Amino acid sequence: MSEKLILNADICYRRAEEQAVEYFQILKVLVSQKNYISTLTKDIQSWKHNHIRHHFFSLGKQKTTSRGYHPYIRWLDYTGKLESYLDRSISYIYMRDLGKALGSPDTQLRVWRTVDTLKNYLIDRNNKHETFSMAGLYRWAQKEGIETTMIWLLDKLKTVSAKIPEGMDAVHAQRKLIKIIAGVIMHVLEEMEEDVSPEKRIQKLDKAIRLGYAYGLTYPFIDDLLDSNILSSAEKRRYSDLICTTLITGTVPRLGNWTGKNSNLIRFIHSELTEAFDYIKANQRETNRKNFFEQAYVFFLSQEIDRMKDLKRTDYTNEELYIPIILKSASSRLIARSVISAPEDEGFDNRTFYYGIYNQLADDFADLFDDMKDGAVTPYTYYLKYHEKRKDLINPFELYWAVIANLIHNVYQSDPKTCEVILGRAINGLKRFKERVGTEKYNEVMSLFALGNPKFNHLIQKMVRKADDVDFFDKLLRDHIITILKEEQKEREEFLNIFETVRNEINGMLKIGGHNILLGDPIIDAANYSLEGNGKRLRPIITWFMGVKEYGLKKSAVGPLLKSLEYMHTASLIFDDLPSQDNSSSRRGRSTLHMTYNIAIAELTGLFLTQKAVEEQTFLEQFNSKTVLNLVRYSAKMTADMCRGQAMDLESKGKSLTLEQLNVLSFYKTGIAFEASLVMPAMLAEAGESEIDALKKYAKHTGVAFQIKDDLLDVEGDIESLGKPSGQDAENNNSTFVSILGLDGARKEMWNHYCLAVEALQEVPRNIPFLKHLLDYIVNRER
Ligand code: IPE
Ligand code: IPE
Ligand code: MG
Ligand code: MG
Ligand code: MG
Repeated sequence: MSEKLILNADICYRRAEEQAVEYFQILKVLVSQKNYISTLTKDIQSWKHNHIRHHFFSLGKQKTTSRGYHPYIRWLDYTGKLESYLDRSISYIYMRDLGKALGSPDTQLRVWRTVDTLKNYLIDRNNKHETFSMAGLYRWAQKEGIETTMIWLLDKLKTVSAKIPEGMDAVHAQRKLIKIIAGVIMHVLEEMEEDVSPEKRIQKLDKAIRLGYAYGLTYPFIDDLLDSNILSSAEKRRYSDLICTTLITGTVPRLGNWTGKNSNLIRFIHSELTEAFDYIKANQRETNRKNFFEQAYVFFLSQEIDRMKDLKRTDYTNEELYIPIILKSASSRLIARSVISAPEDEGFDNRTFYYGIYNQLADDFADLFDDMKDGAVTPYTYYLKYHEKRKDLINPFELYWAVIANLIHNVYQSDPKTCEVILGRAINGLKRFKERVGTEKYNEVMSLFALGNPKFNHLIQKMVRKADDVDFFDKLLRDHIITILKEEQKEREEFLNIFETVRNEINGMLKIGGHNILLGDPIIDAANYSLEGNGKRLRPIITWFMGVKEYGLKKSAVGPLLKSLEYMHTASLIFDDLPSQDNSSSRRGRSTLHMTYNIAIAELTGLFLTQKAVEEQTFLEQFNSKTVLNLVRYSAKMTADMCRGQAMDLESKGKSLTLEQLNVLSFYKTGIAFEASLVMPAMLAEAGESEIDALKKYAKHTGVAFQIKDDLLDVEGDIESLGKPSGQDAENNNSTFVSILGLDGARKEMWNHYCLAVEALQEVPRNIPFLKHLLDYIVNRER
């Protein structure tokens, strides 16, 4: 029986607040005594020996991370700095995300091992994929045997990014989810015993991914949503109440009646959150559960308090400014720890608690100008605005350094490695900020925040100018992921734009003329009936893109080829739907041709369209006639092969084919048309043989992936979106990927072909993002 959890929320919050107040009192004293200045001055003096080179050779310009992820890593490797770079970065992550003390020999050993693995991974030239690409993730999942989980995750990520409304940053949300999931995976790998059985390892990784997603979801769907202007203020209140109730009772309450333009969004979020909280609870140790909800409540409430603040108000006390941020930064860390049921060594709670405010002050500093623009109250924005009128305000920059000194010397007992890493991180934060906002603005900000300690400031600024080897891998990765996600988003939009525009253009040119008025012309009418249906026009769109965009052929010149491909394809569908084949009643959103007319007309129209397709090819007059002849030969052969494919398909009814047979069959019946739509424009552009070979390889896997998705949709889709009936394959006893491999197996096979197609793309001697997005479209489509 699941016990109901009711928190006494006020008591939780007050207890946490008391602890934060106590800590803040200590910090206040440290800031006012200014001892941290001499302490840190000493620390920096010795720290700098490892970061400031005096000799001549290093005077040249340092390679900066702005050159990009891969070049930077190669440069680090080339200069022999990669290992110390990773050591610094991984140490930092162990301290920040895993709550470890760097001084312990056990932690050192683990850091060293992780550095070694990561280094080998980064310099492995056989790595074909971008780590955070879908193909990269899927290949990793295959290696670990967690394909099903990864497919689940890819699907979730796709839905989330599709549902994130405009006005909320989808890239940001995705990055956060990825980061949190990666964090949980890292933690689980870290805690995994070396002799763990393969089944157990799979189970643990599966759980890590699902937990990471469940917990990660709360960021975009709770905090970011409430921070944004999507909901009206009444909706915000209602939503925030719902979250509060969830955290107090441990269960997401029923949504009730939510109307208005956000109702779909809220319903989606509500169902995802319900699922997420259920999963977290079911997979958490009993002892962690209460702690989790307590910390989550503290986190949520402190965020709410911060959100309600108004930069126009002049009377916030230091306590009002700092206590909520101490609470939210500490509790967010503690929640993450309890989600993953992290084991706690000596002093862990303490470290985690003290760590929070340091991190929050670093983040708020970095976001200073954005927060200013949004009118958000943070210690920095508030100080910037009111420091002249309010001499009592604590300077957050001074507090930041005081916290650092406290961390190094009191929390981490002056451990040299900790000192090395934290100072590096702090100087790096300032460097990054300076780079981002420009020297002038930076100096302005600094002259204000560093008012009290000119000498100390001088030292810090010297470090910001001169120190090197202070970069961190997580920052590089963060920038890299944002770059990739943004680029992908832009390309995807471009793809969808082109897709729609070209589709409309093609729709406008398909109609066949020459209708005989005197006698009537059932075949031309029937052909147009089939062509007018709501087809995707995928094959001519591919040809248009390759021909016009990639190879620079004239639009008017390739027009006949586009028509030819769609005529051929439509003919194949007419035949496929006949009672002698799949016996289908609807296609492209309307009744099938043989039902609307009759079987004889349908057969004749199929033939008619294949001949029209050949006729169109003879209008490719602007090309070398030998090239066109080659193209016609290729096309005829392909059409013939497609017939063979359809026959193999019909012959296989009720048989249990092998996977290999199924792949061959699908290539013949479906893959060939994709090959033709890529290869024919390449032929017209006289592309080289190796390029054509690579395109064929891509087409083969893309075509098979397309057919697998078609088989999946036959089970999972519905007639409204498909435009054709589902459940046909089962009814016909067809041998499909689903009938042979099962749903799960079919999905895996589809993603495998997806990866193979992406890999084949790398062999194409030109970069064609369109083809990558075409693949994404194919595996993600609903029709
Ligand atoms: C359906 O092709 C036939 C298969 C190869 C599975 P499409 O799904 O491209 O059909 P339309 O052209 O959009 O109707
Ligand atoms: C058909 O495959 C392939 C063709 C070339 C026509 P299917 O029989 O699975 O196509 P649908 O599902 O009817 O569109
Ligand atoms: Mg068929
Ligand atoms: Mg069919
Ligand atoms: Mg089908």
